[in-house]
Amino acid sequence: MMAIHIHPLERKWLFVIAVIILLTWVVQLYYALNKSTHPPSNVEVIDSVRLHLNDGIGGGEFAETNLGVKRDKNGQLRVTMVAARYSFYPQEIVLPLGESITFRFASFDVLHGLHVPFSNLNSMVVPGYISEVTTEFTREGEFPILCNEYCGTAHAFMYGKIKIVAKEKFKL
Ligand code: CUA
Repeated sequence: MMAIHIHPLERKWLFVIAVIILLTWVVQLYYALNKSTHPPSNVEVIDSVRLHLNDGIGGGEFAETNLGVKRDKNGQLRVTMVAARYSFYPQEIVLPLGESITFRFASFDVLHGLHVPFSNLNSMVVPGYISEVTTEFTREGEFPILCNEYCGTAHAFMYGKIKIVAKEKFKL
């Protein structure tokens, strides 16, 4: 058998890379176990077929009349939205700057994605599951909501809009 020769410099870099990978694992494990960090796309299960009905899981949270921006009984702002070929419903929403907002999404049909540039709102919307992200916006203006999972021929035309206004200008 031939002994494998590794150049000392390469050996050094292998060690550096191994340390970086280990550190990444440690950080991920720490946040997963201590801060309950997990992918936002599979928070709860939901029956996609009955999404539009008021007798669905969660009391019809995603029925048409319940969509949009609301404040829950604790005062937390909540956005309930449906992603479906080929739009987000409601398609346009107005939200305040610098306030914590919980977004809940469900898909009516196939796998969609949801990405809002200049924010950390980015999640898959998997049929049969509710996606949940809590975040706040740090700049005013209009931002597109883009679908970033290929969902069919009009995927490129699937978008919505979020308008961020100053807190004083925000009304429900
Ligand atoms: Cu919805 Cu791509």
